[in-house]
Amino acid sequence: METTGQGAAKRFHVTTFGCQMNEHDSERMRGMLSSLGYTEAPSREQADLILFNTCSIRENADSRFIAHLGEAKRLKSEQPDVVVGVGGCWAQSVKDEVFERFPFVDVAFGPGQIHKLAEFLTSDSLSAQGYFEFEDFAGHLPTQRTRPFQAWLQISQGCNCVCSYCIVPSTRGREASRPSGELLAEVRALAADGVREVTLLGQNVNSYGRDLRGEGRMTFADLLRAVDAVDGIERIRYTSPHPKDMKEDVILAHAECPSVCEHIHLPLQSGSSRILKQMRRTYDRDRYLDRVALIREHVPDAALTTDIIVGFPGETDEDFEATLEVVEEVGYDGAFTFVFSPRRGTLAAELDGRVPHPVKKERMGRLVEAVQRRARERAERFVGRTVDVLVEGPSRTDPSRLRGRSRHNKAVNFDGTAGPGEIVEVEVAAATSQTLLGTEVLLSRAG
Ligand code: 5AD
Ligand code: SF4
Repeated sequence: METTGQGAAKRFHVTTFGCQMNEHDSERMRGMLSSLGYTEAPSREQADLILFNTCSIRENADSRFIAHLGEAKRLKSEQPDVVVGVGGCWAQSVKDEVFERFPFVDVAFGPGQIHKLAEFLTSDSLSAQGYFEFEDFAGHLPTQRTRPFQAWLQISQGCNCVCSYCIVPSTRGREASRPSGELLAEVRALAADGVREVTLLGQNVNSYGRDLRGEGRMTFADLLRAVDAVDGIERIRYTSPHPKDMKEDVILAHAECPSVCEHIHLPLQSGSSRILKQMRRTYDRDRYLDRVALIREHVPDAALTTDIIVGFPGETDEDFEATLEVVEEVGYDGAFTFVFSPRRGTLAAELDGRVPHPVKKERMGRLVEAVQRRARERAERFVGRTVDVLVEGPSRTDPSRLRGRSRHNKAVNFDGTAGPGEIVEVEVAAATSQTLLGTEVLLSRAG
């Protein structure tokens, strides 16, 4: 039945903002809702339950979401039975204010609190409900994966760092690791279900396990090795590590475990030790470069990517030049670049020395130029090489081609015949800063 009338399956629509953790939470929402008998609606208009999984990392994340919420308001005024739910970090950061500012919202819940959504939907409560307590893990909610052969595995929640610009510690609470036995059981189940690539998720993955006691305790490097040993898992990725906790044992796991991919995302944030101190990152430029050197020593070909913030309060020309220097020196394979955005409740939002908008813009332009130029140069090393590609499906820009990712996490567009989920060899003919272009090596599949 297509209608939303009585007796028909209820339909939901979810819009996800923010990071992979949120993508994963949305997969869990889908899984949970389908176990409650809901099906997914192709558009918001056709949904009985309109959900937003929100992000609050920067101001523009907030404002993008508010525009979408406006549409939900309109739909609800046309169809008052529609239920509007708002989850994730933005919801957590404004808590019960949600209902004052947006009275048409029926249920709001913090990140990872998807089970609370289930509680709301299965209760008789008609009044608006907010769920913002940090608690233990949301348990083993069913997950509906976007791609059958790729899975996220949440290894911890929360964050104990105190980065002065970041809202996450306040939206996701204290760090708590999941016991390793539980994680490995999940990985084995995923492998049995056809998963070939897992991405371990946490706000600071390499502090994993420090809060665990007893049998389930493991370091992050041990966990990588244990996941590597699971049959069927051919690729392991993780995000994000913190440079302060990036130790040799993790780098050695990259060098020694066949499944751990040759890609490390190592957020720099700034190349100026002075600014890093203001950011409370607890490493300085030399220590960061030392981590990079260690990575290059053990995994010479590893792809390195990073996050950089420009225009942090008090950032001088000299500080910014220091960031550019690190970008030139490291030669990232890619970088996410952000303009500093003051977030409510964070220390940095109170700092003096706001960088004027035109200065931020000019710095951002120079940074992006340097990042892209170095990434393009780095990508050249793949031209003429054959790389393993996990096929995702048709290319977005040219459906006659296929698209997938290399172990170095480069998007690869290629001519070939492979199906989604296959790992094939692709000979790379050309490279841009973002993508590789090539042709599938058919012989290797036949042979
Ligand atoms: N302003 C700008 N960028 C930020 N990030 C986190 N908080 C802020 C902020 N207040 C960036 C960091 C982080 C990435 C996920 O988002 O670079 O690594
Ligand atoms: Fe956004 Fe950060 Fe929350 Fe992820 S953890 S949804 S990036 S605020």
